[in-house]
Amino acid sequence: MDYKKEIAKVIGENIDVDVDKIEKLIEIPPKPEMGDYAFPCFSLAKELRKAPNKIAEEIAANINKNGFERVENLGPYLNFYVDKAVFSKNTLEKIFDEKDEYGSSKVGEGKNITIDFSSPNIAKPFHVGHLFSTAIGNSLYKILSFEGYNCIGINHLGDWGTQFGKLISAYKRWCDKDALEKEPIKELLRIYVKFHDEADKDPSLEDEGRMYFKKLEDGEKEEVELWKTFRELSLKEFENVYKLLNVKFDSYAGESFYNDKMDEVVEEIDKKGLLVDSNGAKVVMLEEYNMPPCIIKKSDGATIYATRDLAAAEYRKKTYDFYKSIYVVGSDQKLHFRQLFKTLELMNHEWSKDCNHVSFGMVRFSDRKFSTRKGEVIFLEDLLKEAVDKTLEIINEKNPELENKEEVSEKVGVGSVVFTFLKNSREKDIVFDWKEMLSFDGETGPYVQYTYARGKSILRKLGNAEGEIDYSKLNTTEEFELIKLLAGFQGAIFNAIDKLEPSILTRYVIEIAKAFNKFYNLNKISTEEDILVKNSRLRLTEATTEVIKNGLNLLGVGVVEKM
Ligand code: ARG
Repeated sequence: MDYKKEIAKVIGENIDVDVDKIEKLIEIPPKPEMGDYAFPCFSLAKELRKAPNKIAEEIAANINKNGFERVENLGPYLNFYVDKAVFSKNTLEKIFDEKDEYGSSKVGEGKNITIDFSSPNIAKPFHVGHLFSTAIGNSLYKILSFEGYNCIGINHLGDWGTQFGKLISAYKRWCDKDALEKEPIKELLRIYVKFHDEADKDPSLEDEGRMYFKKLEDGEKEEVELWKTFRELSLKEFENVYKLLNVKFDSYAGESFYNDKMDEVVEEIDKKGLLVDSNGAKVVMLEEYNMPPCIIKKSDGATIYATRDLAAAEYRKKTYDFYKSIYVVGSDQKLHFRQLFKTLELMNHEWSKDCNHVSFGMVRFSDRKFSTRKGEVIFLEDLLKEAVDKTLEIINEKNPELENKEEVSEKVGVGSVVFTFLKNSREKDIVFDWKEMLSFDGETGPYVQYTYARGKSILRKLGNAEGEIDYSKLNTTEEFELIKLLAGFQGAIFNAIDKLEPSILTRYVIEIAKAFNKFYNLNKISTEEDILVKNSRLRLTEATTEVIKNGLNLLGVGVVEKM
């Protein structure tokens, strides 16, 4: 039984309000004394022209109380106390029946959602910001797909722009071909930085860069070949990171993909009377909306990042007829996306309202500082490998006998990085601190994974709960708190979708892990003599591991059976 639905239904029999709306208002009170579910009546006062207290009182007097231990009215609230044995049975049996599908639904069926995420730049390192985007985008992809949406993951590679002219120039002057073979991005970055250093001394280099970019745009063979090589070499390195993270895309249509699609957009903007001349550049004025103009063409006629994004937005609407179009990009690009969406709106694209910038904060490290200008960057692959190595050290210390330590370290190490990104509301800046991230008993990935492995080890030792079960035996506070949390899985997912915020789910799995450990510490399992109690507790343990696994999976974090 889905309690929120059931409660919404019985309330709906008493008032003239849409049941879906009622369902959305139902809350889970912070303290069990306040009921297992609560329905606040404030927001209905206007619609029903009655005081909230009065509404609550009237519903309480007439409501069908079947299936509940009791229903009480306290001020403007209706508090529902479920019949615990029935609730436990419903929840645990549902998890047991649905397994990997528990928490999923078909609400999104028939709706396409494009998710633009990761989107690193060719010939530049994949930096932590891109990793942040990758973690969030991948998780949203999984969460939305789980609820039936058809997701299209797009890697909008930064593979076009004047910087490629500079890179060609630098390549011709200073490239070490062996180094390029071995560590392409490091070498490309080295010569790109060198180009800037040299151009400070000799500004004519800039002209040379422009010349090469012109050649590239004109499709000249040598330049195009070089650009293709840079792109392929970079992609190969990016793939290593994606493989470690187990991330996939449906499309790699990057900026260059829109080269032949921009004239059309520029023309359209012009036709709609939005294109204005400004010092030789073509722009869309956004002063009225308190924004600087959106530049469409620079004074030398070249298109820019924003032009390509306009073309991409139209292309995505045409190709995928999206219900929502999501861009997972750092908050330093907030203005860019406001300008983009406003320009689309001014172009009379009513779907501009379906475009969402899912932004996120900055990443810092507790133990080092970087200056990108000097070419000091963290190579993502190195970062992930560091996490894996450090995890291996911890495991060697804690559990040296463990089988397949390498595999476990990889899942736990990489998982700890992803978990750190998804732990707090995405707009917040985050600080990477190895000690904290890798701790087995903080609010960390390893902690949740460890809890899962602990549950699995109990089940291995004592056997799954195949025997007879009496759900009314699960009556300690810790047991019922855990069961209630397990029942709230789908609610947490819907919340995360509503706010496009995976951290809601991360917090949820942390809460589950904490509640399980509390239950485990305060209630006997292996030494319990009452076989019905023992079996029921095993069933609860099994259900918990299932929900943790499903939850972590939606975050893009793997589980291990032993650690
Ligand atoms: N390549 C860009 C960057 O590294 C991010 C692209 C995001 N997506 C987009 N459609 N603009 O900053």
